[in-house]
Amino acid sequence: MKIGIGSDHGGFELKEYIKDYLEKEGIEYLDYGTYSEESVDYPDYGKKLAEAVIAGEVDKGIAICGTGIGISIACNKVKGIRCALCHDTYSARMSIEHNNANMLALGGRVVGKDLALEIVSVWLKAKFEGGRHERRVNKITAMEE
Ligand code: RB5
Repeated sequence: MKIGIGSDHGGFELKEYIKDYLEKEGIEYLDYGTYSEESVDYPDYGKKLAEAVIAGEVDKGIAICGTGIGISIACNKVKGIRCALCHDTYSARMSIEHNNANMLALGGRVVGKDLALEIVSVWLKAKFEGGRHERRVNKITAMEE
């Protein structure tokens, strides 16, 4: 599995921390920026990463801004993206099991770094349950038409 990761300046520090974790775990990733703490606009980075997920360049995306809110809103504007903003491990697991999220959003100014790693770890291991949840997710997809 290949992960795409991206952030604005507000999520930069946490992005680098998560990259170290992915490296240690042997999980392949591509970094879609930003590459410093210089101020940038989160929609640009959310769009770039979300489009990479839809194009199949990466299997899943992790998007980070200060709160996680702006970048998750931006990612969810890209057709086919289900980006879940999660600051607890239960939501992270459910976002896959029930919602088949293809992106995770985090707030670098909200969540502690080690909690963020637990969230990422749980999110990457979770599996979509399908069944009645598939019907519901399909209804979301239908709203895009
Ligand atoms: C940038 O200051 C901040 O607004 C951004 O990182 C994010 O929190 C927006 O939702």
